[in-house]
Amino acid sequence: MMDYTITTHTVEETEEAGKELALLCLQKGERFVAMYGDLGAGKTAFVRGVASQLASGAPVTSPTYSIVNEYSPSGLSKPTLFHFDMYRVSDWDDLDSIDFDLYFTRDALIITEWSENIEFALPSHHIRVDIEKIDENSRRISVKEVELK
Ligand SMILES: Nc1ncnc2c1ncn2[C@@H]1O[C@H](COP(=O)(O)OP(=O)(O)OP(=O)(O)O)[C@@H](O)[C@H]1O
Ligand SMILES: [Mg+2]
Repeated sequence: MMDYTITTHTVEETEEAGKELALLCLQKGERFVAMYGDLGAGKTAFVRGVASQLASGAPVTSPTYSIVNEYSPSGLSKPTLFHFDMYRVSDWDDLDSIDFDLYFTRDALIITEWSENIEFALPSHHIRVDIEKIDENSRRISVKEVELK
């Protein structure tokens, strides 16, 4: 059962935490990571770390305007990484317009920012990551396996 909390003191440490979670997801076959945290909490930084474990090359940027960015796997046994920013999403119509369902048919790890906006669409089993800003450079990151009833 994944359940741990760490505190980071630099953006690099938050990226490292993302990298470690990606490795755990690979090992355990986890396919969906729902991130929560305010503006500037460090969600995109965390995803950069995830991508450094799974994907090759392409720099991670916020997909706020495109909603989703795709990152090609850096190894044959690795899943494709899909990074969603749900900031502007609020209902199933919005998700249907980007064919959200189709991503679940892929050999993929899906990671979502602003997951509170798509709670109605979260898979019953997923990993929840909360990033909380403690002060200018410190973040509390908690990782939890969720099983919705
Ligand atoms: N320990 C830390 N971990 C992560 N980011 C940090 C940390 N300390 C400072 N920062 C800064 O906080 C900001 C985090 O930005 P980031 O884009 O990752 O946040 P976000 O949660 O994705 O925001 P948004 O909701 O706007 O997408 C960066 O400017 C980063 O340099
Ligand atoms: Mg972001």
